Amino acid sequence: MATYSTIAVTFALGIIIGFVLMQPPKLLFSTKECDAKDVEVVTNDVSQALTNAWKLACGSTGRSVFKLTTNNSTVGPLTFDGPCKATKMVVNVVGDVIAIPKASWPDNSADAWIKFTKVQNLEIFGRGKFIGNGKSGWWKCKNSKINTCENNPTALAFHNCNNLNLIGVTSIDSPRNHITINHCNGTTISNINLIAYGMSPNTDGIDISDTNGVHINGGHIGTGDDCIAINGGSFNINITGLNCGPGHGISIGSLGRNSATEEVSNIMVMGATFTDTQNGVRIKTVPGGSGSASHITFSNIGMTRVQNPILLTQFYCPHVDPKDCKNKPQMVKISDVTFSDIHGTSATSNAINITCSPNKDSCVGITLRNINITPNTAIATCKNAVDVHLIGNVTPYVKCTRGADVIEMPLDHDDYNESQRAIATS
Ligand SMILES: *[C@@H]1O[C@H](CO)[C@@H](O)[C@H](O)[C@H]1NC(C)=O
Ligand SMILES: *[C@@H]1O[C@H](CO)[C@@H](O)[C@H](O)[C@H]1NC(C)=O
Ligand SMILES: *[C@@H]1O[C@H](CO)[C@@H](O)[C@H](O)[C@H]1NC(C)=O
Ligand SMILES: *[C@@H]1O[C@H](CO)[C@@H](O)[C@H](O)[C@H]1NC(C)=O
Ligand SMILES: *[C@@H]1O[C@H](CO)[C@@H](O)[C@H](O)[C@H]1NC(C)=O
Ligand SMILES: *[C@@H]1O[C@H](CO)[C@@H](O)[C@H](O)[C@H]1NC(C)=O
Repeated sequence: MATYSTIAVTFALGIIIGFVLMQPPKLLFSTKECDAKDVEVVTNDVSQALTNAWKLACGSTGRSVFKLTTNNSTVGPLTFDGPCKATKMVVNVVGDVIAIPKASWPDNSADAWIKFTKVQNLEIFGRGKFIGNGKSGWWKCKNSKINTCENNPTALAFHNCNNLNLIGVTSIDSPRNHITINHCNGTTISNINLIAYGMSPNTDGIDISDTNGVHINGGHIGTGDDCIAINGGSFNINITGLNCGPGHGISIGSLGRNSATEEVSNIMVMGATFTDTQNGVRIKTVPGGSGSASHITFSNIGMTRVQNPILLTQFYCPHVDPKDCKNKPQMVKISDVTFSDIHGTSATSNAINITCSPNKDSCVGITLRNINITPNTAIATCKNAVDVHLIGNVTPYVKCTRGADVIEMPLDHDDYNESQRAIATS
């Protein structure tokens, strides 16, 4: 039988449900009276209180419940470390958790706002939202030369975990990625709600890397960047019933950046809608890398005004001059990819774009089944893929040609199109 340490933790936090119901807790300070300095002092107190409460919960045995509440104060970076003595850690997000503004962040900025490391059997649920305060300056990171947005912190990061379960988690306006899953086994994410409207560069919804076994089921992701990005070392990833948009769609890769060797396989996206996204379903690899992307299925997908509904490219190089995005002897091989039952509208004349390297066996085994993307001016381009199968009605019709004359313009830019987003969210 599990030992419940809920009471102890609740006591430590000083928040007892009955007490809350009978007598609304007082704010720690009146918002009108306090100046910035007060906020920082209070912030530190809350962070310390949370850290202490976590240690207590994590150190107790059995199933342990950690109530995450900040008493309406804002909080800076928080780290919740394991391994825990508790066999299961349940985080109940009781109230909204709001990040301190960028200007108040510590100088040695963390890579994540809220980070869970080495916590096994972690479950997060609750009605509170994570509000990352990305608007407080994080999103003004872009200048024409370097993209410093990539140094912004992720809102919620999970490292080295087994059996992670996120239930109905909401994250709004993250400084960078909303959720990062790295080095985890067995993750379930259901009814996720990730939102970052406005000028929000690099705010991917869920980034997965070096991770085995993820099921993302239901929910809505609308951010300025990828809804979901599946990176190197990811295996057995299922996505079912997700609404994506606006943003950059669901992306496998980029793989092979900086000549890296990367592998992904067994990825299934079954049942998804894309609305006003820059891309729909996409696989992207960088010339010069190596490794493979294989056993990938995208099926039962609805597209509404998507700029590039189906995109597969081995010439993805947004970080180099387009002139230098040339074919190289090495590439990440792509094989066994199925696009099935994909219907809807393209916002451009481009419905399907498959652009592979002219190298031998670069892209092998691409199946397109029951595809209908309008308007009827939309076209399909297909270069250098072999063993391509069309099954059922595929519109626009796909005919693959061979040739070495391919250079991909960087399609994925962090620049976000304000007018387009306004349309999408109105
Ligand atoms: C929230 O406020 C209660 C009551 O003032 C206090 O006991 C508790 O420690 C606070 N929690 C945090 C995380 O600051
Ligand atoms: C936080 O603020 C909300 C809205 O003002 C209020 O309803 C809630 O009771 C507050 N919670 C705490 C713990 O102070
Ligand atoms: C995940 O599983 C692999 C293979 O069993 C193992 O090597 C790795 O340590 C596991 N990861 C964690 C975080 O436990
Ligand atoms: C993904 O779906 C397939 C087919 O339904 C199933 O066999 C597999 O176990 C699922 N994997 C995960 C991680 O949910
Ligand atoms: C498809 O991709 C190629 C290169 O990979 C690009 O040059 C071309 O413009 C794209 N086609 C369309 C119709 O967008
Ligand atoms: C942004 O999107 C709108 C609407 O789709 C389009 O008219 C406009 O040309 C785009 N602007 C840029 C800079 O891409």
